[in-house]
Amino acid sequence: MILVAGGAGYIGSHTCVELIKHGYEILVLDNFSNSSAKVFDRLKKITDQDIPYVDVDICDEAGLESVFSTYDIQAVIHFAGLKAVGESMLNPLVYFENNIAGTSTLLKVMKRHTVKHMIFSSSATVYGEINPSPYQESMQTGMPTNTYGYTKLVVEQMLQKLDQAEEGWSIALLRYFNPIGAHPSGLIGEHPKGIPNNLLPYVTQVAVGLREKLSIFGGDYDTADGTAVRDYLHVVDLAVAHVLALKNRLDHTGCDIWNVGTGNGYSVLDIKNTFEQVNQLQVPFEIVARREGDLASFYADSSKIQNELGWEVQYQLDDMLAHSWNWQKNNPNGYESA
Ligand code: NAD
Ligand code: WQD
Repeated sequence: MILVAGGAGYIGSHTCVELIKHGYEILVLDNFSNSSAKVFDRLKKITDQDIPYVDVDICDEAGLESVFSTYDIQAVIHFAGLKAVGESMLNPLVYFENNIAGTSTLLKVMKRHTVKHMIFSSSATVYGEINPSPYQESMQTGMPTNTYGYTKLVVEQMLQKLDQAEEGWSIALLRYFNPIGAHPSGLIGEHPKGIPNNLLPYVTQVAVGLREKLSIFGGDYDTADGTAVRDYLHVVDLAVAHVLALKNRLDHTGCDIWNVGTGNGYSVLDIKNTFEQVNQLQVPFEIVARREGDLASFYADSSKIQNELGWEVQYQLDDMLAHSWNWQKNNPNGYESA
């Protein structure tokens, strides 16, 4: 059985669908700090399965011990983390405890039960400011511009040191670029609590009338249209990358790194304009000052994951933006509107 820690969240729930599609037996572990157990009703509609889950925190060693003693766990896909950049700058200790100490506790219990396969949700933020795009896995990591990103870098380094020190670990560090979109069914998607930090949820909330207008952070970057460029990828393609990484790791030992990005860069204005065109609606906007810590442009070199894991992008930008809107318009209040 595969333990999906943080499996009730945005990327985790989409990954549950793909794992089931590929025949894996799964157990979700989540403390629901940023998700709702209502997601399991939606997952049942998509997969026709009742996915078992436990309400446990990765910082709770006794809780983890009971899970690993009860279930026959073969590998862990580890999504369980806090991810709000602004909050991480205000409350670093909360991020150290949840993301770093929580992962350490999870690893300790895994080791005790001889479970040594882990797929970890890392981020392109670990490349920092020093590297030019396209980012390659062989580049030296830099210093992330925020505390959230710093926790990802620390956990990557913890996992690398663990692998160097002890035999038998099998770890994948997946460095995500900018996941957006939702399941094509419109049944699961992303619904951030409070004011969205990320671009796409903000755009869809303006489009659905929950927010007045989009603020575009910075129009004077050294990019084609002056707005910042990112590598957006469909969350279902990202979910598939986890299945491929899991298959690979079940047959290998060691710690390996894969970028998960398409290799294409789109600007904020590209996103707004394409969203309007694909969905036939208007998104009022204004260009405001740059957001602190933002880089002008970054995108992946995705050749390693393509060559080594056979990952292929199934969805293009139009699909990502159509699916984001399909989810938002049918679920203006996320799972609460069910
Ligand atoms: P999410 O918040 O939707 O999902 C994370 C899940 O983990 C939530 O269900 C949350 O309740 C759970 N969780 C958090 N702390 C926990 C704890 N201590 N114990 C148990 N469960 C806990 O976020 P997401 O967008 O699905 O991201 C999943 C992972 O991918 C995170 O680790 C995130 O940092 C990483 N990541 C996300 C992005 C992105 O843009 N969304 C980019 C790079 C990396
Ligand atoms: C994308 C672009 C903004 C909101 C962050 C984390 C990273 C990863 C993904 C996850 C930027 C602009 C945004 C808005 C805007 N994390 N923007 N108006 O900053 O590339 O990456 O999320 O867990 O680690 O740092 O993503 O979606 O916040 O921003 O103009 O209201 O959209 O300035 O250029 P980012 P984002």
